Amino acid sequence: MKRNILRGCLCLLPALFFLSGCGNEAREEEKKSIRLGVSVYRWDDAFLTTLRAELEEKAKEYERESGTKVVLDIVDAKESQSVQNSQVERFISLGCDALCINMVDRSAASDIIVRAMDADVPVVFFNREPVEEDMDRWDRLYYVGADAKESAVIQGTILADAYDADHSSLDLDGDGVVNYVLLEGESNHQDSLIRTEWSIQTLKDRNVPIEKLTGGIANWDRSQASALMEQWLEKYPDEIELVISNNDEMALGAIDAIERLETDRPIKLVGIDATPAAVEAVREGKLMGTVNQDLESYANTIFEIARCEAEGEPVGNYVQLEEGKYYRSAQAPVTRDSFSD
Ligand code: GAL
Repeated sequence: MKRNILRGCLCLLPALFFLSGCGNEAREEEKKSIRLGVSVYRWDDAFLTTLRAELEEKAKEYERESGTKVVLDIVDAKESQSVQNSQVERFISLGCDALCINMVDRSAASDIIVRAMDADVPVVFFNREPVEEDMDRWDRLYYVGADAKESAVIQGTILADAYDADHSSLDLDGDGVVNYVLLEGESNHQDSLIRTEWSIQTLKDRNVPIEKLTGGIANWDRSQASALMEQWLEKYPDEIELVISNNDEMALGAIDAIERLETDRPIKLVGIDATPAAVEAVREGKLMGTVNQDLESYANTIFEIARCEAEGEPVGNYVQLEEGKYYRSAQAPVTRDSFSD
């Protein structure tokens, strides 16, 4: 009897071995998939649309190269913080390994942070920077963006260089003053305030004689900017020489208004972002310049941080971060000189 039991056990061993092997493989298989939840504040924002495409591209590339399946769940927060909070809750319940969040209201990150910490799911914020106090709440919070002061200094330098090379490039009527209008992004966005300040400061530091005619908030939006510019062109038909815009979309909106009103003064415009449409406008000579934020490395870094966290690898081995949590993408001017043709 005992011998029979022993024989039975011995017979079962290969099966157990096989089964436990399968278990490992199954676990391995499980690990070969990561799920990332991404929420953007507004779907039709041109800059973020380009960024989303880069992110998707990067996820596919990683899938191809590593064999790890990447489930990238990208959703639109529709400019509502409460919608975004619910999206985060859903991502967590779906078992996302990491979250990539473009805050609707950057000062309201604490709710998301608390949910993420409770569920032990790391968060990579991007483009809309949470306040420092929030970022310091946990060591699995990151921020990826571009330095707003740097963008603005580059924007101001594009203009100052053009003015130094030829005053009449900006001072269209030759009266010794460059009359400008200013298009600003959302009032509570870190980029709007800092870009405005440093663009103007750079022009002053370089002794470009500027004078502001008027300015307004167009929330990064092409049609809002177009409507504002139309009003300004009607109010100052012979005075506007320069349009300084916090981003490209608003500069393109101003161009729309200039074209719609068939203004024949060669008003100069500058933006920031280097979206494909803006780069094309620079090539055509409609836009004097823009600032490239190296969207490829911006998106790669968002993905890489989330992937490392999801796969339990030390982020610092793959991405160089300031204070262990901040990444600022490299920036460069784009002007007509950037094209060889
Ligand atoms: C800025 C960008 C704008 C807009 C905004 C949204 O950095 O220049 O075009 O995308 O972010 O948060």
